[in-house]
Amino acid sequence: MGKKITDKVTWVGKIDWELKHFHGDELSTGKGSSYNSYLIRDKKTVLIDTVWGPYDTEFVAHLKEEIDLKDIDFIVMNHNESDHSGALPALMREIPDTPIYCTKKGEDIIRGLYHQDWNFVNVKTGDTLPIGDNTLTFVECPMCHWPDTMVTYADKEQILFSNDVFGQHFATESLYDDTVNQDELMHEAEKYYANILNIYNPMVKRKVDEIVGMNLPLKMIAPSHGVIWTDHIADIISKYQQWDSDYQENQITIIYDTMWQSTRLMAQAIADGIRDFDPTVRVKLMNAVKDDKNDIVVEVFRSKAILVGSPTVNMGVTFAIAGILEMIHGMKCKHKKAAAFGSFGWGGGGEKRIQQRLEEAGFEIAAEPLKVKWAPDTQAEQQCRDYGLKFAEAVAK
Ligand code: FEO
Repeated sequence: MGKKITDKVTWVGKIDWELKHFHGDELSTGKGSSYNSYLIRDKKTVLIDTVWGPYDTEFVAHLKEEIDLKDIDFIVMNHNESDHSGALPALMREIPDTPIYCTKKGEDIIRGLYHQDWNFVNVKTGDTLPIGDNTLTFVECPMCHWPDTMVTYADKEQILFSNDVFGQHFATESLYDDTVNQDELMHEAEKYYANILNIYNPMVKRKVDEIVGMNLPLKMIAPSHGVIWTDHIADIISKYQQWDSDYQENQITIIYDTMWQSTRLMAQAIADGIRDFDPTVRVKLMNAVKDDKNDIVVEVFRSKAILVGSPTVNMGVTFAIAGILEMIHGMKCKHKKAAAFGSFGWGGGGEKRIQQRLEEAGFEIAAEPLKVKWAPDTQAEQQCRDYGLKFAEAVAK
């Protein structure tokens, strides 16, 4: 069922309340998501993006309720990951000759995914497509977050169709930013940024600055996931300009796993030591098994420093710590500090593995690893507390 957002533009996407995991199982989406597709009916008719493949039949059926598909003059594919291009094959079976406007990389991806020789029209930054009262202008945004990504601006409507940029995995029937809980909305926007876009910070920064520098009149930013920004356009742009500049708050996050509670006790004593040095710092403890991995990524994103701890298992670290270190490595954080800790029974070694991965992830090591044999006694707990204090002191320098 379409939802009119201006006289000429109708939202024709899919709201996916059931979605709990995205990118396979890589990203938790507890608040669902949406795949936003937009139909512009000007002198020419343009469809912007489609939806994820499992919803292709209902997408095409609902589109037919809006318009005779043969009246679609152009399809614009801002980005071609499966969540936006998945319904293209079903649509193109109905209108096989319709031109698909996308970047060259976009064409490569569509060809690679669907193996079809459709009518591709490659566009670059600054290319325009007059469609009547509106002219569409394309801006390539490579690596925000795939190589093919671009955004499209409709000048008369004053809408920026931004695809994944400014998106959030957030299902809402009411579409607009002012209709939802603001804390939930901004949390989902930040979670999206930390988990999906942070890795490409320099490219995101360059593009957001470029788009801001274009001084486009904007009534809406219409992304491909979540709400359409209307009332909070300046807020989300301002947030992006903070997030894309090596973001950090006065926070230290301790991520740990534990088998028989020794490493947990170390984590708690280290937290006490950090607050001995600076009672104002926000300290968060996160269990790598029990906490959501993508929430842990958000806390790392917010932190000026992190500590990662694991018991030594088979001369290495636990499964959960290995996994979260891989995710942290993928964030490509800059200007954050870190250290490793853990308990052991005989050889040890887990803490060294953690430090190595933190170094490879780009963290500055603020203290050599701390390890405690068997369960920490009072003396060892004090040692951990002292370690936390020294770590916080080194982070403050
Ligand atoms: Fe990169 Fe929403 O797909």
